[in-house]
Amino acid sequence: MLILKNINKYFPLEEGQFCALNDVSLAIEKGECTIIAGANGSGKSLLMSIIAGLEEPSSGTVDCKARVGLVFQEPDAQILGETPREDIAFGPQNMGLSKTEIAKRVQSALEQTGLADRAGFPARSLSGGEKRRLAAAGVLAMDAEIIIFDEPYANMDYPGVVQINRLLKKLIADGKTLIILTHELEKCLALANRFIVLCKGKKVFDGAASQALLCDLESWGIRHPLSSPAQKHEELVWL
Ligand SMILES: Nc1ncnc2c1ncn2[C@@H]1O[C@H](COP(=O)(O)OP(=O)(O)O)[C@@H](O)[C@H]1O
Ligand SMILES: [Mg+2]
Repeated sequence: MLILKNINKYFPLEEGQFCALNDVSLAIEKGECTIIAGANGSGKSLLMSIIAGLEEPSSGTVDCKARVGLVFQEPDAQILGETPREDIAFGPQNMGLSKTEIAKRVQSALEQTGLADRAGFPARSLSGGEKRRLAAAGVLAMDAEIIIFDEPYANMDYPGVVQINRLLKKLIADGKTLIILTHELEKCLALANRFIVLCKGKKVFDGAASQALLCDLESWGIRHPLSSPAQKHEELVWL
């Protein structure tokens, strides 16, 4: 569904250049839930921008026929409408859909994200978790097939994390292809089937999510998620 081949991204420095992504190749199948983990600055957001076509790689190819929706780290930057209903309608309106189709999609996105009772509230008054779900509702209304969540747990309290995870679980059950960019494995590892690690722009691990705990995560700047050795991979999710 998504194939990246030999992606490099360089930024010019005063002297020479900085390699932000170094020969990254990966393939993601339909219906997978992939965590891309990595310390700050490892290249996660940049990779997301390249997948979505917002940034051009310096070299390499992106093969993606699917519609990609992004849920940015800062939901405030993504919310444009005065109310959730108005905000969710922007995407479908830009797609030139009929009024009935727009109304149908907005209602469905509100229901899928659990925001139906907030539809007419001032968008600015929503909680952090609600805002992130609103951003997700916007991409659902545009019928995105691949949804990328950039640091969905940033600045989120426990109820906020649980709200996001319930939504992620539902999207997985609905067959969406999800990519979660995060280093907070204790909050979501059990939701994923696939685990990829970026370290300083290089892909250093790509395998089953159940293998993640066998990795030397600290050497890649990622906190090991187990709070006790008896804990199991399946328990690593806040729900
Ligand atoms: N437009 C840019 N110009 C220069 N450097 C950039 C630019 N965008 C990203 N970078 C650099 O690329 C690296 C990866 O950034 P990013 O993808 O945001 O990391 P992450 O999301 O994993 O924290 C960082 O070192 C960042 O400073
Ligand atoms: Mg980032």
